[in-house]
Amino acid sequence: MSQPVLQIIIASTRPGRVGLPVAQWFDGVARAQGSFDVEVLDLAEVALPLFDEAGHPIARQYQHAHTVAWSETIDRGDAFVIVHPEYNHSYNAAIKNALDYLHAEWNYKPVGFVSYGGVSAGTRAMTALKPVVAALRMIPTVEAVNIPFVAQFIDDEGRFVPNDMLSMGAAGMLAELAKLERALAPLR
Ligand SMILES: Cc1cc2nc3c(=O)[nH]c(=O)nc-3n(C[C@H](O)[C@H](O)[C@H](O)COP(=O)(O)O)c2cc1C
Repeated sequence: MSQPVLQIIIASTRPGRVGLPVAQWFDGVARAQGSFDVEVLDLAEVALPLFDEAGHPIARQYQHAHTVAWSETIDRGDAFVIVHPEYNHSYNAAIKNALDYLHAEWNYKPVGFVSYGGVSAGTRAMTALKPVVAALRMIPTVEAVNIPFVAQFIDDEGRFVPNDMLSMGAAGMLAELAKLERALAPLR
C-alpha cells in the first residue's frame, strides 16, 4: 500500500554544500522510520530561475515550463522537510524563491526543518522561515533538528554522522509530521 509522500528539500545550491550529506542522512532515517514514501528534491537540480511569473501563484496561471514542473512536483507531496543552512542570520535565497513560486500546492501540508550552521545551529534561519511557510498555510512542527557547528559531524568521506541527540530529534520530528499529515489530509 502506498504511503503519504514526504519530500525532503535540499535548500542549499552551492558546490560542496553540507546540505547534501545532511539530507542524505535524513533520507535514510525517514525511509527506515517507514511512515512515508520519501523523495529528495534538490534545489540545485531543480534550478528555478529567480521568480519570473507575471501572475500571483494563487491563480495557478503559470507561463513557464519550469513553474509547471515545480507545481506538479510539490502537488505530489503530502509533507515536507526542509534541510537548510543559515546565511547571514536568515534563510538562503534559493529556498525562499522556491517557496514563493507556488501557493496552493503547499497548503495544509506539514513541514519540518533540519537546520544547520555555526553556533546558532541554523535556528535564526528556521525562525525566519516559519512566517513564510505560515503564509503558505503550511503547518510547521515544533520538533526540529538543529545542527550546531555542522562541520564537526562530517567525516573524512564527506558523510554526515549524527550524535544521539540529533537522531532522537529526527525521530521525534518524523513522528509529528506523520501525525499532522493525517490530521491535515481532510483540508487538502
Ligand atoms: C553566504 C553565507 C553566509 C553565512 N552566514 C552564516 C550565518 O549567518 N550563520 C551561521 O551559523 N553560518 C553562516 N554561514 C556558514 C554556513 O552555516 C556554512 O558555510 C554551511 O556549511 C552552509 O551550508 P551549505 O554548505 O549547505 O551551503 C554562512 C555561509 C555562507 C556561504
